[in-house]
Amino acid sequence: MKIAYLTPGAAIGGAEMVLLDVLAALDRGPSGVRPLVLLGEDGPLRGEVEALGVACEVLALPAGVARLGDAGASGAARKLALLARGLSAASATLAYRGRLARRLRDERPALVQTNGMKMHLLGAWAAPRGVPVVWHLHDYLGTRAAMARLLKLSARPGVEGVAISRSVAADARATLGGRFPVRTIYNAVDVGRFRPVEGEGEGEGAALDRAAGLAEAPPGTVRVGLVATFATWKGHGLFLDAAGRIPAEIPARFYIVGGPIYRSAGSQVAPESLRAHAEGLGLGGRVGFTGHQADPARAIRGLDVVVHASTRPEPFGRVIVEGMACGRAVVAMREGGAAELFADGEEALGCPPRDPAALAEAIARLVADAGLRGRLGRAGRAAALARYDRSRLAGEWSAVYDRASAPAPAVADDPARHPAPASPVAR
Ligand code: GLC
Repeated sequence: MKIAYLTPGAAIGGAEMVLLDVLAALDRGPSGVRPLVLLGEDGPLRGEVEALGVACEVLALPAGVARLGDAGASGAARKLALLARGLSAASATLAYRGRLARRLRDERPALVQTNGMKMHLLGAWAAPRGVPVVWHLHDYLGTRAAMARLLKLSARPGVEGVAISRSVAADARATLGGRFPVRTIYNAVDVGRFRPVEGEGEGEGAALDRAAGLAEAPPGTVRVGLVATFATWKGHGLFLDAAGRIPAEIPARFYIVGGPIYRSAGSQVAPESLRAHAEGLGLGGRVGFTGHQADPARAIRGLDVVVHASTRPEPFGRVIVEGMACGRAVVAMREGGAAELFADGEEALGCPPRDPAALAEAIARLVADAGLRGRLGRAGRAAALARYDRSRLAGEWSAVYDRASAPAPAVADDPARHPAPASPVAR
Protein backbone atom coordinates (compact mmCIF):
# COMPACT_ATOMS: atom_id res chain seq x y z
CA MET A 1 0.00 0.00 0.00
CA LYS A 2 1.53 3.30 -1.05
CA ILE A 3 1.08 6.16 1.42
CA ALA A 4 2.09 9.76 0.81
CA TYR A 5 3.11 11.59 3.98
CA LEU A 6 2.95 15.38 3.67
CA THR A 7 4.79 17.46 6.20
CA PRO A 8 5.45 21.21 6.00
CA GLY A 9 8.74 21.77 7.84
CA ALA A 10 12.07 19.98 7.69
CA ALA A 11 13.50 21.15 11.02
CA ILE A 12 13.27 18.29 13.49
CA GLY A 13 10.81 19.13 16.25
CA GLY A 14 8.39 16.83 18.04
CA ALA A 15 5.98 16.23 15.16
CA GLU A 16 8.86 15.40 12.83
CA MET A 17 10.33 12.94 15.34
CA VAL A 18 6.94 11.29 15.54
CA LEU A 19 6.81 10.96 11.76
CA LEU A 20 10.23 9.30 11.84
CA ASP A 21 9.00 6.94 14.57
CA VAL A 22 5.94 5.98 12.53
CA LEU A 23 8.04 5.38 9.42
CA ALA A 24 10.57 3.33 11.38
CA ALA A 25 7.88 1.20 13.00
CA LEU A 26 5.73 0.47 9.94
CA ASP A 27 5.84 -2.90 8.27
CA ARG A 28 7.47 -2.08 4.96
CA GLY A 29 7.57 -5.67 3.74
CA PRO A 30 6.00 -6.75 0.43
CA SER A 31 2.46 -6.62 1.82
CA GLY A 32 3.15 -3.62 4.02
CA VAL A 33 3.37 0.14 3.49
CA ARG A 34 5.38 1.85 0.74
CA PRO A 35 5.86 5.33 2.12
CA LEU A 36 6.73 8.46 0.19
CA VAL A 37 7.45 11.60 2.21
CA LEU A 38 6.76 14.97 0.58
CA LEU A 39 8.43 17.82 2.45
CA GLY A 40 7.36 21.46 2.21
CA GLU A 41 11.00 22.55 2.52
CA ASP A 42 14.46 21.05 2.45
CA GLY A 43 16.28 20.51 5.72
CA PRO A 44 17.58 17.98 8.25
CA LEU A 45 14.41 15.88 8.20
CA ARG A 46 15.14 14.83 4.64
CA GLY A 47 18.37 13.03 5.55
CA GLU A 48 16.70 11.33 8.51
CA VAL A 49 13.86 10.06 6.33
CA GLU A 50 16.28 8.82 3.69
CA ALA A 51 18.41 7.12 6.35
CA LEU A 52 15.36 4.97 7.09
CA GLY A 53 15.34 3.91 3.45
CA VAL A 54 12.16 5.88 2.77
CA ALA A 55 11.66 7.83 -0.45
CA CYS A 56 11.58 11.55 0.17
CA GLU A 57 11.03 14.56 -2.07
CA VAL A 58 10.89 18.27 -1.50
CA LEU A 59 7.89 20.07 -2.93
CA ALA A 60 8.83 23.49 -1.62
CA LEU A 61 6.04 25.57 -0.14
CA PRO A 62 6.12 29.17 -1.42
CA ALA A 63 8.07 31.30 1.08
CA GLY A 64 5.04 33.32 2.20
CA VAL A 65 3.08 30.15 2.94
CA ALA A 66 5.96 28.46 4.75
CA ARG A 67 6.33 31.38 7.15
CA LEU A 68 2.63 31.72 7.73
CA GLY A 69 1.59 30.30 11.05
CA ASP A 70 -1.14 31.58 13.33
CA ALA A 71 0.22 29.76 16.38
CA GLY A 72 1.28 32.97 18.04
CA ALA A 73 -1.53 35.18 16.78
CA SER A 74 -2.97 37.52 19.33
CA GLY A 75 -4.08 41.11 19.25
CA ALA A 76 -5.89 42.90 16.46
CA ALA A 77 -2.79 44.35 14.81
CA ARG A 78 -1.11 41.00 14.61
CA LYS A 79 -4.25 39.40 13.22
CA LEU A 80 -4.50 42.10 10.57
CA ALA A 81 -0.88 41.63 9.61
CA LEU A 82 -1.51 37.91 9.36
CA LEU A 83 -4.59 38.49 7.24
CA ALA A 84 -2.62 40.69 4.85
CA ARG A 85 0.11 38.12 4.59
CA GLY A 86 -2.53 35.41 4.27
CA LEU A 87 -4.14 37.14 1.31
CA SER A 88 -0.85 37.55 -0.50
CA ALA A 89 -0.11 33.91 0.28
CA ALA A 90 -3.52 32.75 -0.96
CA SER A 91 -2.73 32.75 -4.66
CA ALA A 92 0.62 31.06 -4.01
CA THR A 93 -1.28 28.46 -1.97
CA LEU A 94 -3.66 27.74 -4.82
CA ALA A 95 -0.76 27.30 -7.22
CA TYR A 96 0.91 24.97 -4.73
CA ARG A 97 -2.29 23.00 -4.31
CA GLY A 98 -2.28 22.44 -8.09
CA ARG A 99 1.30 21.20 -8.08
CA LEU A 100 0.61 18.90 -5.15
CA ALA A 101 -2.55 17.54 -6.77
CA ARG A 102 -0.61 16.72 -9.95
CA ARG A 103 2.17 15.08 -7.95
CA LEU A 104 -0.35 12.95 -6.04
CA ARG A 105 -2.21 12.04 -9.20
CA ASP A 106 1.05 10.75 -10.71
CA GLU A 107 2.02 8.92 -7.56
CA ARG A 108 -1.42 7.34 -6.99
CA PRO A 109 -1.07 6.70 -3.24
CA ALA A 110 -3.75 4.62 -1.53
CA LEU A 111 -3.86 7.15 1.28
CA VAL A 112 -2.52 10.61 2.12
CA GLN A 113 -1.39 11.41 5.65
CA THR A 114 -0.64 14.95 6.76
CA ASN A 115 1.28 16.69 9.52
CA GLY A 116 0.63 20.28 10.49
CA MET A 117 -2.33 22.56 9.79
CA LYS A 118 -1.13 23.79 6.40
CA MET A 119 -0.64 20.29 5.09
CA HIS A 120 -3.97 19.15 6.57
CA LEU A 121 -5.67 21.74 4.40
CA LEU A 122 -3.54 21.19 1.34
CA GLY A 123 -3.83 17.42 1.65
CA ALA A 124 -7.61 17.55 1.89
CA TRP A 125 -7.78 19.88 -1.11
CA ALA A 126 -5.22 18.08 -3.28
CA ALA A 127 -5.77 14.36 -2.64
CA PRO A 128 -7.20 12.62 -5.71
CA ARG A 129 -10.89 11.77 -5.56
CA GLY A 130 -11.62 8.73 -3.40
CA VAL A 131 -8.19 8.71 -1.72
CA PRO A 132 -8.63 8.86 2.06
CA VAL A 133 -6.80 11.57 3.99
CA VAL A 134 -5.59 11.12 7.56
CA TRP A 135 -4.79 14.24 9.55
CA HIS A 136 -2.22 13.38 12.19
CA LEU A 137 -3.26 15.89 14.82
CA HIS A 138 -0.35 17.11 16.96
CA ASP A 139 -1.92 20.33 18.14
CA TYR A 140 -5.08 21.82 19.56
CA LEU A 141 -7.26 23.32 16.86
CA GLY A 142 -9.65 25.16 19.14
CA THR A 143 -7.12 27.86 20.01
CA ARG A 144 -6.47 28.77 16.37
CA ALA A 145 -9.72 30.27 15.27
CA ALA A 146 -8.98 31.09 11.62
CA MET A 147 -7.23 27.82 10.92
CA ALA A 148 -9.94 25.86 12.73
CA ARG A 149 -12.64 27.37 10.50
CA LEU A 150 -10.73 26.39 7.39
CA LEU A 151 -10.13 22.89 8.72
CA LYS A 152 -13.81 22.48 9.54
CA LEU A 153 -14.72 23.42 5.99
CA SER A 154 -12.14 20.98 4.68
CA ALA A 155 -13.11 18.03 6.90
CA ARG A 156 -15.13 16.38 4.14
CA PRO A 157 -16.05 12.67 4.11
CA GLY A 158 -12.91 10.65 3.53
CA VAL A 159 -10.91 12.82 5.90
CA GLU A 160 -10.28 11.49 9.38
CA GLY A 161 -8.10 12.39 12.32
CA VAL A 162 -5.59 10.58 14.47
CA ALA A 163 -4.79 12.54 17.61
CA ILE A 164 -1.67 12.18 19.75
CA SER A 165 -3.65 12.24 23.02
CA ARG A 166 -7.23 11.99 24.18
CA SER A 167 -7.12 15.64 25.04
CA VAL A 168 -6.24 16.57 21.43
CA ALA A 169 -8.92 14.16 20.16
CA ALA A 170 -11.56 15.80 22.37
CA ASP A 171 -10.51 19.24 21.14
CA ALA A 172 -10.74 18.07 17.51
CA ARG A 173 -14.26 16.76 18.06
CA ALA A 174 -15.30 19.95 19.81
CA THR A 175 -13.81 22.08 17.03
CA LEU A 176 -14.64 20.05 13.92
CA GLY A 177 -17.95 18.61 15.10
CA GLY A 178 -18.75 15.40 16.95
CA ARG A 179 -19.19 13.48 13.69
CA PHE A 180 -15.60 14.07 12.60
CA PRO A 181 -13.98 10.65 13.00
CA VAL A 182 -10.96 10.87 15.23
CA ARG A 183 -9.10 8.30 17.27
CA THR A 184 -6.09 8.50 19.55
CA ILE A 185 -2.70 6.95 18.95
CA TYR A 186 -0.29 7.99 21.66
CA ASN A 187 3.17 8.90 20.45
CA ALA A 188 5.96 6.47 21.22
CA VAL A 189 9.74 6.58 21.14
CA ASP A 190 12.68 4.38 20.27
CA VAL A 191 13.26 2.90 23.73
CA GLY A 192 16.57 1.49 22.49
CA ARG A 193 17.85 4.99 21.80
CA PHE A 194 16.10 6.73 24.69
CA ARG A 195 17.42 4.49 27.43
CA PRO A 196 19.47 4.78 30.58
CA VAL A 197 23.17 4.08 30.01
CA GLU A 198 25.02 3.00 33.11
CA GLY A 199 27.81 5.43 34.02
CA GLU A 200 27.20 7.70 31.04
CA GLY A 201 25.36 10.47 32.87
CA GLU A 202 28.46 12.28 34.21
CA GLY A 203 30.15 12.40 30.83
CA GLU A 204 26.97 13.60 29.14
CA GLY A 205 26.48 16.16 31.89
CA ALA A 206 29.98 17.48 31.35
CA ALA A 207 29.20 17.67 27.63
CA LEU A 208 26.21 19.89 28.43
CA ASP A 209 28.48 22.14 30.50
CA ARG A 210 30.86 22.44 27.55
CA ALA A 211 28.02 23.12 25.12
CA ALA A 212 26.84 25.88 27.45
CA GLY A 213 30.35 27.33 27.84
CA LEU A 214 30.38 26.67 31.59
CA ALA A 215 33.10 25.13 33.73
CA GLU A 216 32.30 21.53 34.58
CA ALA A 217 29.88 21.39 37.50
CA PRO A 218 31.42 20.16 40.74
CA PRO A 219 30.66 16.52 41.66
CA GLY A 220 27.37 16.19 43.45
CA THR A 221 25.70 18.89 41.33
CA VAL A 222 22.18 17.94 40.27
CA ARG A 223 21.60 18.92 36.66
CA VAL A 224 18.08 20.15 35.95
CA GLY A 225 17.05 20.98 32.42
CA LEU A 226 14.23 22.15 30.21
CA VAL A 227 14.50 20.36 26.87
CA ALA A 228 12.24 22.01 24.31
CA THR A 229 11.95 23.86 21.06
CA PHE A 230 11.91 27.64 21.44
CA ALA A 231 8.16 28.02 20.84
CA THR A 232 7.00 30.88 23.07
CA TRP A 233 4.72 28.63 25.12
CA LYS A 234 7.30 26.03 26.11
CA GLY A 235 7.81 27.79 29.45
CA HIS A 236 11.44 28.92 29.32
CA GLY A 237 10.56 31.98 31.39
CA LEU A 238 8.63 29.89 33.91
CA PHE A 239 11.57 27.51 34.23
CA LEU A 240 13.98 30.39 34.86
CA ASP A 241 11.58 31.95 37.37
CA ALA A 242 11.40 28.64 39.24
CA ALA A 243 15.20 28.31 39.14
CA GLY A 244 15.49 31.83 40.50
CA ARG A 245 13.50 30.78 43.58
CA ILE A 246 15.88 27.97 44.42
CA PRO A 247 18.54 29.13 46.89
CA ALA A 248 22.06 29.32 45.42
CA GLU A 249 23.45 27.02 48.17
CA ILE A 250 21.40 24.13 46.83
CA PRO A 251 23.71 22.06 44.58
CA ALA A 252 21.75 22.39 41.34
CA ARG A 253 22.62 23.72 37.91
CA PHE A 254 19.95 24.60 35.36
CA TYR A 255 20.05 24.08 31.62
CA ILE A 256 18.03 25.31 28.72
CA VAL A 257 18.53 22.71 26.02
CA GLY A 258 17.36 23.66 22.53
CA GLY A 259 17.29 26.56 20.14
CA PRO A 260 15.05 28.41 17.68
CA ILE A 261 14.70 25.87 14.85
CA TYR A 262 11.47 26.93 13.16
CA ARG A 263 10.78 29.41 10.35
CA SER A 264 7.31 30.58 11.46
CA ALA A 265 7.53 34.29 12.16
CA GLY A 266 7.09 35.62 15.68
CA SER A 267 6.36 32.35 17.47
CA GLN A 268 9.74 31.69 19.08
CA VAL A 269 11.58 33.13 22.07
CA ALA A 270 14.88 34.86 21.37
CA PRO A 271 17.92 33.33 23.10
CA GLU A 272 19.17 36.82 24.06
CA SER A 273 15.98 37.64 25.91
CA LEU A 274 16.24 34.39 27.89
CA ARG A 275 19.82 35.19 28.81
CA ALA A 276 18.74 38.65 29.94
CA HIS A 277 15.91 37.10 31.96
CA ALA A 278 18.38 34.73 33.68
CA GLU A 279 20.77 37.60 34.38
CA GLY A 280 17.93 39.65 35.81
CA LEU A 281 17.15 36.84 38.24
CA GLY A 282 20.78 36.70 39.32
CA LEU A 283 21.15 33.19 37.96
CA GLY A 284 24.54 34.01 36.38
CA GLY A 285 26.70 30.89 36.22
CA ARG A 286 23.93 28.65 37.56
CA VAL A 287 22.17 28.40 34.22
CA GLY A 288 23.56 27.09 30.96
CA PHE A 289 22.22 27.56 27.43
CA THR A 290 23.36 24.59 25.41
CA GLY A 291 21.78 25.53 22.09
CA HIS A 292 20.19 22.94 19.84
CA GLN A 293 21.43 19.43 20.61
CA ALA A 294 21.44 17.03 17.69
CA ASP A 295 21.17 13.99 19.95
CA PRO A 296 18.35 14.55 22.43
CA ALA A 297 18.84 11.17 24.12
CA ARG A 298 22.40 12.07 25.12
CA ALA A 299 21.34 15.52 26.27
CA ILE A 300 18.62 14.01 28.43
CA ARG A 301 21.04 11.50 29.93
CA GLY A 302 23.25 14.44 30.87
CA LEU A 303 20.47 15.67 33.15
CA ASP A 304 19.28 14.30 36.48
CA VAL A 305 15.92 16.03 36.30
CA VAL A 306 14.02 16.75 33.09
CA VAL A 307 11.54 19.60 33.33
CA HIS A 308 8.52 20.17 31.15
CA ALA A 309 7.13 23.65 31.80
CA SER A 310 4.73 24.52 28.98
CA THR A 311 2.53 27.46 29.79
CA ARG A 312 -0.33 26.29 27.54
CA PRO A 313 -1.93 22.87 27.68
CA GLU A 314 0.60 20.55 26.06
CA PRO A 315 -0.89 18.36 23.31
CA PHE A 316 1.41 15.47 24.22
CA GLY A 317 4.89 16.46 25.35
CA ARG A 318 7.29 13.98 23.81
CA VAL A 319 10.11 15.06 26.05
CA ILE A 320 8.21 13.75 29.07
CA VAL A 321 8.20 10.27 27.60
CA GLU A 322 11.80 10.62 26.36
CA GLY A 323 12.90 11.57 29.87
CA MET A 324 11.00 8.65 31.38
CA ALA A 325 12.48 6.26 28.79
CA CYS A 326 15.98 7.50 29.69
CA GLY A 327 15.27 6.66 33.32
CA ARG A 328 15.35 10.28 34.43
CA ALA A 329 13.16 11.97 37.00
CA VAL A 330 10.65 14.12 35.12
CA VAL A 331 8.58 17.06 36.33
CA ALA A 332 5.69 17.89 34.02
CA MET A 333 2.76 20.24 33.89
CA ARG A 334 -0.42 18.45 34.88
CA GLU A 335 -2.54 19.74 32.01
CA GLY A 336 -3.63 18.80 28.49
CA GLY A 337 -2.30 15.63 26.89
CA ALA A 338 0.79 15.78 29.12
CA ALA A 339 -1.36 14.87 32.14
CA GLU A 340 -2.37 11.59 30.45
CA LEU A 341 1.17 10.31 30.11
CA PHE A 342 2.23 9.29 33.60
CA ALA A 343 0.90 8.10 36.93
CA ASP A 344 1.49 11.24 38.99
CA GLY A 345 3.99 10.85 41.79
CA GLU A 346 4.99 7.37 40.66
CA GLU A 347 6.26 7.66 37.08
CA ALA A 348 6.87 11.42 37.04
CA LEU A 349 5.96 14.40 39.22
CA GLY A 350 2.98 16.40 38.04
CA CYS A 351 2.96 20.09 38.78
CA PRO A 352 0.17 22.68 38.55
CA PRO A 353 0.74 24.75 35.39
CA ARG A 354 1.97 28.35 35.26
CA ASP A 355 3.02 28.37 38.91
CA PRO A 356 6.73 29.15 39.43
CA ALA A 357 6.54 28.54 43.18
CA ALA A 358 5.07 25.06 42.72
CA LEU A 359 7.63 24.24 40.03
CA ALA A 360 10.48 25.47 42.25
CA GLU A 361 9.15 23.30 45.06
CA ALA A 362 8.98 20.18 42.86
CA ILE A 363 12.50 20.79 41.54
CA ALA A 364 13.90 21.43 45.02
CA ARG A 365 12.29 18.24 46.26
CA LEU A 366 13.94 16.23 43.51
CA VAL A 367 17.32 17.92 43.93
CA ALA A 368 17.28 17.04 47.63
CA ASP A 369 16.11 13.45 47.26
CA ALA A 370 18.26 11.14 45.15
CA GLY A 371 16.12 8.18 46.24
CA LEU A 372 13.00 9.79 44.81
CA ARG A 373 14.82 10.58 41.57
CA GLY A 374 15.89 6.96 41.31
CA ARG A 375 12.39 5.62 41.98
CA LEU A 376 10.75 7.92 39.46
CA GLY A 377 13.44 7.12 36.89
CA ARG A 378 12.97 3.37 37.26
CA ALA A 379 9.19 3.56 37.17
CA GLY A 380 9.37 5.98 34.23
CA ARG A 381 11.55 3.58 32.30
CA ALA A 382 9.18 0.70 33.04
CA ALA A 383 6.22 2.82 31.89
CA ALA A 384 8.04 3.72 28.68
CA LEU A 385 8.72 0.07 27.95
CA ALA A 386 5.12 -0.87 28.65
CA ARG A 387 3.33 2.00 26.92
CA TYR A 388 5.63 4.11 24.77
CA ASP A 389 7.71 1.59 22.84
CA ARG A 390 7.36 2.62 19.22
CA SER A 391 7.05 -0.96 18.03
CA ARG A 392 3.35 -0.73 18.98
CA LEU A 393 2.87 1.95 16.32
CA ALA A 394 3.01 -0.63 13.52
CA GLY A 395 -0.21 -2.34 14.59
CA GLU A 396 -2.01 0.83 15.59
CA TRP A 397 -1.32 2.60 12.32
CA SER A 398 -2.05 -0.37 10.13
CA ALA A 399 -5.47 -0.54 11.77
CA VAL A 400 -6.01 3.07 10.66
CA TYR A 401 -4.82 2.34 7.13
CA ASP A 402 -6.86 -0.84 6.75
CA ARG A 403 -10.02 0.84 7.89
CA ALA A 404 -9.54 4.06 5.99
CA SER A 405 -8.91 2.26 2.74
CA ALA A 406 -11.60 -0.39 3.24
CA PRO A 407 -13.98 -0.35 0.24
CA ALA A 408 -17.23 0.23 2.16
CA PRO A 409 -17.46 3.84 3.33
CA ALA A 410 -17.18 3.86 7.10
CA VAL A 411 -19.97 5.47 9.09
CA ALA A 412 -18.68 8.58 10.78
CA ASP A 413 -20.21 8.01 14.18
CA ASP A 414 -19.64 4.29 14.39
CA PRO A 415 -18.20 3.85 17.91
CA ALA A 416 -15.71 1.35 16.51
CA ARG A 417 -14.11 4.29 14.72
CA HIS A 418 -13.30 5.88 18.07
CA PRO A 419 -11.72 2.98 19.89
CA ALA A 420 -10.18 3.61 23.27
CA PRO A 421 -6.50 4.38 22.86
CA ALA A 422 -4.20 1.43 23.29
CA SER A 423 -2.04 2.92 25.96
CA PRO A 424 -3.90 4.95 28.56
CA VAL A 425 -2.23 5.25 31.94
CA ALA A 426 -3.83 2.60 34.13
CA ARG A 427 -5.45 4.41 37.01
C1 GLC B 1 3.61 18.95 18.81
C2 GLC B 1 2.98 19.09 20.18
C3 GLC B 1 3.74 18.30 21.24
C4 GLC B 1 3.96 16.88 20.77
C5 GLC B 1 4.59 16.88 19.39
C6 GLC B 1 4.72 15.47 18.85
O1 GLC B 1 4.83 19.60 18.77
O2 GLC B 1 2.90 20.44 20.55
O3 GLC B 1 3.03 18.28 22.45
O4 GLC B 1 4.77 16.19 21.69
O5 GLC B 1 3.81 17.60 18.48
O6 GLC B 1 3.46 14.90 18.62
